Amino acid sequence: MSAVRSFVQLQAQPRAAPSTRMVSFILCLLPALLATTNAQATILTCNTCFGLTETCNFGSGTCQDNKTTGGCLSVAEDIKLDGTQHTYFYKQCLSSYKSNIKVPISFTVGNDKYVRINTTQCNTDNCNAAVLGVPKGSTTENGLQCPTCFALNFAVCNSSVTPCTGDETYCIDFVGFLYKGSSPSPFQAKGCTTASPQVIKPGINLTSTPYIFSFFWGQSVLAEKIPTSGASPALGKFSFTLYLPGLTGLLLVKLLA
Ligand SMILES: *[C@@H]1O[C@H](CO)[C@@H](O)[C@H](O)[C@H]1NC(C)=O
Ligand SMILES: *[C@@H]1O[C@H](CO)[C@@H](O)[C@H](O)[C@H]1NC(C)=O
Ligand SMILES: *[C@@H]1O[C@H](CO)[C@@H](O)[C@H](O)[C@H]1NC(C)=O
Ligand SMILES: *[C@@H]1O[C@H](CO)[C@@H](O)[C@H](O)[C@H]1NC(C)=O
Repeated sequence: MSAVRSFVQLQAQPRAAPSTRMVSFILCLLPALLATTNAQATILTCNTCFGLTETCNFGSGTCQDNKTTGGCLSVAEDIKLDGTQHTYFYKQCLSSYKSNIKVPISFTVGNDKYVRINTTQCNTDNCNAAVLGVPKGSTTENGLQCPTCFALNFAVCNSSVTPCTGDETYCIDFVGFLYKGSSPSPFQAKGCTTASPQVIKPGINLTSTPYIFSFFWGQSVLAEKIPTSGASPALGKFSFTLYLPGLTGLLLVKLLA
């Protein structure tokens, strides 16, 4: 049964039983209409671009994804871990919407070693149209402190307690694999972060342009206040409970590597 044929018939015989023909025309068209609606419901259209500045002017266009599993992504990131600063802006489709960190996140794991990612993830058509601002970071101390270190390839993560800045009010401690390209390096990192304990979960990936952080084990806890007077700059009330799971995780990573 073809909607086109029935339309042609309708045009050819305008006077003959219009109401019956109209009904059959609509009935004929209905499956086609429904099919179109279904296809639109399962396909998601997102904006794409990549850039070193907010103009995000390379590869401007759109991409399509399965609406059931995918999403749209917009990211502005500023990352410095190995002495090189990486600032990127991009918008793209996201094939697995569920396994990603969906909120802006920043952490500082040493002097001038940080990851700051502003992100929007959504799943309605073109919902990632806006270019985000790159998180500025802050040098203003907020009165909190965390053990801080960053170590690759099983080097000792020799942490020292460091003041936190800006809105980084949690301490993060995590181990996992850092992918640069396709080769994974085991890492351990500690420091101040904005990420609440709900965000950092084992098995979750944090994707950036230069790296993928694949969290094998991780936790964040509210940061401790910097002791006000006479106290030693030592670990304060940080207990071994903050360290032991990290060590266990690192051992497990070592076993699996
Ligand atoms: C989208 O994914 C769902 C669930 O995996 C699947 O049933 C559906 O066929 C997919 N749709 C398209 C258009 O690929
Ligand atoms: C993310 O980008 C938006 C839009 O520019 C901005 O309003 C927001 O403050 C940014 N968030 C962070 C954490 O930088
Ligand atoms: C850890 O760092 C402290 C000072 O930052 C240094 O004195 C100590 O030797 C280091 N320990 C190791 C095992 O690297
Ligand atoms: C995380 O990223 C790694 C490297 O690309 C990949 O092998 C792994 O499947 C990802 N995990 C999830 C949960 O997406």
